[in-house]
Amino acid sequence: MKLQHLTSINDLSDDQIQAIFKRARKFSNGQHSISSSDHSSPFIANLFFEPSTRTRLSFEAAAKRLGMQVLTLEDKNSSREKGESYLDTLLTLEAMGARGFIIRTTDESASSDLVQALGNKYPHVHIINAGGGKKDHPTQGLLDVFTMQQHYADLEKRKICIIGDIKHSRVARSTVQVLNSLNITNIHLIAPQNLLPESNEFSQCHLSDQLADGLSEADVVITLRIQKERMQSSDIPNNDEYQQRFGLHSENIKMAKPNAIIMHPGPMNRGVEISSGIADSSQSVITQQVANGVFIRMAILDLMLN
Ligand code: CP
Repeated sequence: MKLQHLTSINDLSDDQIQAIFKRARKFSNGQHSISSSDHSSPFIANLFFEPSTRTRLSFEAAAKRLGMQVLTLEDKNSSREKGESYLDTLLTLEAMGARGFIIRTTDESASSDLVQALGNKYPHVHIINAGGGKKDHPTQGLLDVFTMQQHYADLEKRKICIIGDIKHSRVARSTVQVLNSLNITNIHLIAPQNLLPESNEFSQCHLSDQLADGLSEADVVITLRIQKERMQSSDIPNNDEYQQRFGLHSENIKMAKPNAIIMHPGPMNRGVEISSGIADSSQSVITQQVANGVFIRMAILDLMLN
């Protein structure tokens, strides 16, 4: 199965999601052959116009583990500062030999606009959205559900609770899209009233501003950072008030199932949405998410470029 671009989970068929998971599982089990780096192996280009630690470096790790070479644009020192467009930046790197473009922007439509602009003229070019505004973060959605499946073979029977700034979260959107495409629908989205999304956007989910509604008897608990960079200052909650109502800690986690897994896409604000006691507990799978991020991204790069 070949994959041309990945701008949104909506780009993927169910078969493609399963093919990515199958290949990621092989990588995580060490069942793969990796060619050594040589000068004919494909270049990928990391184009991050927003900060990132996990996504940027795990794409870099994934590419290197596949024997690919990586070009990284330092946005602040790039000719974007002189007004160069995303498309001209991409075509410049394409001329240098780059074939896979990993793109993070504040602009929700940047990666799909680039796919459209390329049309059929560049069949050897592949675009992966590494986070676009509040709309899409497809590789995060895939790695989140891949991690859940490692813990629950019967995920469709489990209760999943996502807590936090849902309104501005591309992670929540992409993770829910993957879950829904696998017919997993017992999903509870919990946020302060002003950080809940429009209910018609998440029509298959239960929305509430009461933590107990989602947390009680949950099997999977995902907590999210408040994305202050995507909010008007009047919407930003006070850290202490937020922590008291929605922060996960050793007492309120008792509402969830005793062996519930606790997830966070990172970066975490310890002491706000999650206590250190919970982030570092035996129930936490946060570092497993990071490790799986490399396997999922290896699977996607391998399907596209090898
Ligand atoms: N989860 C995630 O996207 O983290 P980064 O912003 O560090 O890439």
